[in-house]
Amino acid sequence: MKDTVNKNRQNWDDYSPAYLRFKHNEKVLERIRKDPAQAFEKGTWQQIQRCFPDLKGKKVCVPSSGDNHAVFAFAWLGARVTSCDISEKQLAAAKQKAEEMSLDIRFVQADTMEMQGVEDGKYDMVYTSNGVHVWLDDLPKMYRNMHRILKKGGWYIMCDVHPFQRPFGNDFQVVKSYPDVGPFEDEYNITFAWRIQDMMNAMAESGLHFIHMEEMMDEKDYEYPFWLSLEDAVKGVKVDAEDVDRMYDWRQNPAMAIPQWLCVVCRKTE
Ligand SMILES: C[S@@+](CC[C@H](N)C(=O)[O-])C[C@H]1O[C@@H](n2cnc3c(N)ncnc32)[C@H](O)[C@@H]1O
Repeated sequence: MKDTVNKNRQNWDDYSPAYLRFKHNEKVLERIRKDPAQAFEKGTWQQIQRCFPDLKGKKVCVPSSGDNHAVFAFAWLGARVTSCDISEKQLAAAKQKAEEMSLDIRFVQADTMEMQGVEDGKYDMVYTSNGVHVWLDDLPKMYRNMHRILKKGGWYIMCDVHPFQRPFGNDFQVVKSYPDVGPFEDEYNITFAWRIQDMMNAMAESGLHFIHMEEMMDEKDYEYPFWLSLEDAVKGVKVDAEDVDRMYDWRQNPAMAIPQWLCVVCRKTE
């Protein structure tokens, strides 16, 4: 295993129990079970529905599956889902949750840049969610493997943090320039701040055919506003509606003037 992959895997193994404590909270998962759209940003969900009005029986692979919210949502919609991640702990916890919820999901330990153990040409959709690209040091290799596992006519859909967010830290302070992609290493992780061009060029070079892009603003949310921790949301902490209106208004909060999410839809045409 490469150093980057190994260091990040180790950290995700260590962090997993704390990460999933609220991500796998009954209330959070019940919200997704009742309405699987809740596992996705609104614009991304619209793209998924456009490509798949009915997911029943479709083969879906979710690399770097993390909290598995998307995996559970696809399974509740009737898809046959393979969930891949590099962290054994993340996979083991998700497998246990899937069993408790009587969901039949295949779990595979795989590096998203290799997708070892995942068959060629079998998937109707490959979906990657937010917080995936930042851990990966070789996007061309990742996308060659996304292309490899899709069947002809299959769709690749991604939603991740918009690269325009990357130069900014807390309080919208500029912490780096856009072209500085890393690697950024600390005691725990090695991360990357890929640009739109790094992602799109890797997709194009893999042979995937670009279909559509959405650059999405953060949706105003009175129940789960962006600054409320999942822990507080689960506890039912209420937020002031006026604070929500103010924080989502770019005139009062300049961070809201740039897109939060990037969604890209591609197709394997040959
Ligand atoms: C922030 S989560 C992203 C998934 C999901 N959207 C979420 O919020 O939980 C990051 C996941 O990527 C996984 N990961 C990190 N590097 C990886 C790699 N090289 N291959 C596969 N998974 C990786 C981690 O183990 C973690 O579960």
